[in-house]
Amino acid sequence: MSWILKAAKVEISSAVLANSIALSFTKNLDGSFSFAAPKTLIADIEKYFSIALADEISFFNPTGKAGELFEIPVSAQGAQTDRIFLVGAGDGSTPAFRSVGTAIARKVRGKKTTVFCASAIKRDDIKAQAIALTLGAYLWNLKTGEPAGVPTFLVATDDKENLNAAITIAKAISRARDLVHTPSNIKNPAWMVSKAKEFAKGTGLTVKALAGKELIEFGGLRAVGNSSPNPGPRFIQVAYSPKAKTSNKKAIPHVVLVGKGITFDTGGINLKRPYDLMIPMKSDMAGAAAILATLTALEELQPQVRVTALMMCAENAFSGTAQRPSDVITHYGGTTVEVIDTDAEGRLVLADGLAFADENLDPDYLVDIATLTGAITVGLGRQYAAMYTRDNKLARAFEVAGDKSGDRVWRMPLIDDYKDALASDIADFNHLANKEKYSAKSVTAALFLEHFAGKRKWVHLDIAGTGRSESDSGENPKGGTGFGVRLLTQWIVDLQ
Ligand code: BES
Ligand code: MN
Ligand code: ZN
Repeated sequence: MSWILKAAKVEISSAVLANSIALSFTKNLDGSFSFAAPKTLIADIEKYFSIALADEISFFNPTGKAGELFEIPVSAQGAQTDRIFLVGAGDGSTPAFRSVGTAIARKVRGKKTTVFCASAIKRDDIKAQAIALTLGAYLWNLKTGEPAGVPTFLVATDDKENLNAAITIAKAISRARDLVHTPSNIKNPAWMVSKAKEFAKGTGLTVKALAGKELIEFGGLRAVGNSSPNPGPRFIQVAYSPKAKTSNKKAIPHVVLVGKGITFDTGGINLKRPYDLMIPMKSDMAGAAAILATLTALEELQPQVRVTALMMCAENAFSGTAQRPSDVITHYGGTTVEVIDTDAEGRLVLADGLAFADENLDPDYLVDIATLTGAITVGLGRQYAAMYTRDNKLARAFEVAGDKSGDRVWRMPLIDDYKDALASDIADFNHLANKEKYSAKSVTAALFLEHFAGKRKWVHLDIAGTGRSESDSGENPKGGTGFGVRLLTQWIVDLQ
């Protein structure tokens, strides 16, 4: 891990043990400044270092924007501290405190140093900011030589439980990011199995994986994964159930999460063009990474919910054993589908997962998450994921979980008028809308998936835009973001 997060007492005596102290401020209407930290702590810091913090801020003439960071050198007898970071907390909202966290983290990323953070004080802000500290400090590479230093964030709080929840979620996001960052010559579907087993070891999580002949009924997974027969596709089922059993077993909801786990997407025979589009495609398993990581967080948080994750793992390779456009495949449950474009492989593997869940797992909620369509990045950009569902209550719950956690979603419509785009002359469905008059590639993909969710309460999350960042900025490194871990964890914890 490229960060350490610990709780510290909200006192000057613990502040001065750190190499730097981070404080946040908001700009008032009259031009004066307020600190998030308690007045007594601010007064103690000012006395200890013989400085007037508000004067120091005024000197910089700040805009007040969230994440604007000023650094002042300090020294005092008996203090380890040689820097104070003063960070703008914008409008003082939880998202603003996230920006404060990432600004502090980016200042010390890769350095072996300790930062005492008294930069958020309310419970929710502390949690959000603590997670943001770890997101901003995240590093991943396979460089040889001297490893990067690891910063320690000492978060000023007496609420250890709240901070522990933040640590749990932060660890899970780091895990998801590590999986996504791993290049595809290392990460094949069998490697995904080994990672699931490694994460589950010594915990209450169980892992079952199907391969080869065991996948006979999974026509979609096989059609995509057979392009790379060594080692071939894997269906990975990871299950969480709470240790403390309530007396009423029926009262516990069962959530099934289905994740797209394409370990590399060349497009297959319909090779991706222009080729630059292929370079980021090691990230095409971000959905599967997010659900696996979410289960590791749930195992630590122990909510009264049963959760099963189905990771649909395959490589979409360009090869002599690859499926062809015009092939007809039979999905789990028997639906036949005419393959139009082998680059729309995600929905083929997800369809098997959804049908399997509907037929065998009796889910109260069925949620799939996938880097599914480039179109959704055109529509929503990289800050909001697309959410599709027919259930208004569920849509609201996801919007709330998104806003609370920072993994935001925007509801998109399932437009029935577009359904005829999926009509096939020779199979039950075309697997995509190939008729000229249709655009709406993310919508028609969702309509295709809906068929396989049966009558379940179903949500589809298209994270093609949010699952990966193309720039190293804010919360995200260039590469996997871990999107979905905060969202799903929040939604599931709030379900109980
Ligand atoms: N994995 C891609 C979608 C994607 C694109 C994710 C860019 C992240 C960034 C998916 O398998 C794909 O190729 N989708 C096609 C669908 C089309 C053939 C209907 C697309 O979006 O172009
Ligand atoms: Mn594709
Ligand atoms: Zn793909």
